[in-house]
Amino acid sequence: MNRNLALNLVRVTEAAALLSARYLGRGDKVAADQAAVDGMRSMFDTLDIDGEVVIGEGEMDEAPMLYIGEQIGKAKQDSIKVDIAVDPLDGTTAVAKGLPNAISVVAIAPKGCLLHAPDMYMDKIAVGPKAAGTIDIQASVSDNIRAVAKALNKDVSDITITMLDRTRHDELIDKIRKTGARIKLFKDGDVAAAIATCFDDSGVDILMGIGGAPEGVIAAAALKCMGGEFQGKLVPGLYNSKEEEIQRCDKMGINDVNKILFMEDLAKGNEIFFAATGISDGDFLKGVVYYENNTAKTHSMVTRAETGTIRFVEAIHKLDKKPGYAK
Ligand code: FBP
Repeated sequence: MNRNLALNLVRVTEAAALLSARYLGRGDKVAADQAAVDGMRSMFDTLDIDGEVVIGEGEMDEAPMLYIGEQIGKAKQDSIKVDIAVDPLDGTTAVAKGLPNAISVVAIAPKGCLLHAPDMYMDKIAVGPKAAGTIDIQASVSDNIRAVAKALNKDVSDITITMLDRTRHDELIDKIRKTGARIKLFKDGDVAAAIATCFDDSGVDILMGIGGAPEGVIAAAALKCMGGEFQGKLVPGLYNSKEEEIQRCDKMGINDVNKILFMEDLAKGNEIFFAATGISDGDFLKGVVYYENNTAKTHSMVTRAETGTIRFVEAIHKLDKKPGYAK
């Protein structure tokens, strides 16, 4: 895939962030999400790709835009066929309440390289590049923490595990506390939390716990580009009924819901692109800031697996000059 696609992907997440961030703290997560979808969808139309949404806003009957199976891009005869995974706004509640960690994300890979995961829960473990190769989602919590501590040359008591602040994690929290490691809970946005493990300065070493399966695929794509590691296991029956979720998995080509999902199952190969733009302030991306004269600043990152380069892009947008953004 042409490397210049990376910059165009930043335009896609910037568009979503610019429209969605206007809803910060306004108590309306549906409007915040819709604005992100509108921004992302319109920018996608400018891309020279023949894409299909594999992780999106839901099934065709649930979501009018960016639904699973939707064809995206200005496909020409020689356009590359790609899988597209989007979360125009990861952290709808965070934006509605004016809380940190909301980002807009997109991952792209050649057709067939991103797992088609239904909207259900996934148990996850993720680490940055220095601890990649040491984790095992089937091993005990203490074994994983000890292995990561060894890889990072840290004492267990200096390891920080981050996870969603949910009661379903009470048992996991107890197990971590017994090891003496530290815990950082967050309210929403486990894609950003998984990525944060790749940045030394974020202060978090391991993401653990249960979050959305679609977000798991996107996080795995990001960590593939950044050299980290992600493992997941679907948890049928926690969101909808077990039978229904097993059926949905089957329909999407996942015949064994108990299978451990490794990097190559989630985001296959080396031709993966990932971009994210901050909507509210987070560990590695700043949120959108609005200035005078309808000007705004966005902070994004973009990376691709082939080279592993991580670019941060700060952009000043003169919104009056952009169709669709003028107030
Ligand atoms: P939304 O933006 O769709 O609300 O998702 C936010 C999120 O925190 C995800 O990052 C995470 O994977 C999922 O929700 C966890 O689900 P739940 O809120 O049901 O625990």
